[in-house]
Amino acid sequence: MPGRVADSRIALRSIRATHDLRYRSVDPNFWHERWQRNEIGFHQQEINAHLQDYWAQLAVPAGGQVFVPLCGKSRDLLWLRAHGHRVLGVEISPIAVRDFFAENALTPQVTRQGAFERHEADGLAILCGDFFDLTPELLRGVAGVYDRASLIALPPEWRTRYAGHSAAVLPAAAGTLLVTMEYPQEAMSGPPFAVREDEVHRLYDKRYTVTCLFSKDILAENPRFRERGLHALTEKVYRLAPRAL
Ligand SMILES: C[S@@+](CC[C@H](N)C(=O)[O-])C[C@H]1O[C@@H](n2cnc3c(N)ncnc32)[C@H](O)[C@@H]1O
Repeated sequence: MPGRVADSRIALRSIRATHDLRYRSVDPNFWHERWQRNEIGFHQQEINAHLQDYWAQLAVPAGGQVFVPLCGKSRDLLWLRAHGHRVLGVEISPIAVRDFFAENALTPQVTRQGAFERHEADGLAILCGDFFDLTPELLRGVAGVYDRASLIALPPEWRTRYAGHSAAVLPAAAGTLLVTMEYPQEAMSGPPFAVREDEVHRLYDKRYTVTCLFSKDILAENPRFRERGLHALTEKVYRLAPRAL
């Protein structure tokens, strides 16, 4: 049946494309090339509205250090600093790290710290290197975590590894504000990847009490995702409160 054969070929091609992208997105070169080509549609000029609306719900003490995994050159780091926190990001792209400090008129001190190059100015530090090389010593002082476009930047197998490595290196008392997206994964290849609520529970229930604080269809405000083939796109915000407390 030619129709069926054609259908299955299209399906196979789509599975292969998704598969390739899944693996490319954890290859550091994938991200290095995106930064080199300035293909950084994820970067926001504005401070994230959910950070402003929900950060207080984590009750991170003023002055407490906030960890921002896969931080890019996010301006949210500035907001956290302005709210009294010392900020520690990790980012694999030297371009992102350089641009963060240059665009914010900051001159960082650069030192070597383990597998990382540490760039620091005015209580804002970014470890330039691979998240998966972080150690508990490097994150010892962390009191809270802000994860926007970080978990969802990773394909499924790597999200399990990411949550496992986070649990291994973060202090038990640090809660997380997590922003995710949900959409039919077969309609678009990530990143950003769809991360459904059941997966958030599977990844984090053991260590945290997971509460969904916000859920909204945001497709109308994000035409670039409609152009990529989506007909539904929900953004969710979670508080991950440590069970250890
Ligand atoms: C989708 S972007 C999000 C950036 C930032 N969270 C934001 O909200 O703008 C993901 C970032 O993670 C960085 N990245 C990817 N894999 C990484 C890794 N293994 N270690 C550190 N950074 C990584 C990429 O270079 C990219 O800047």
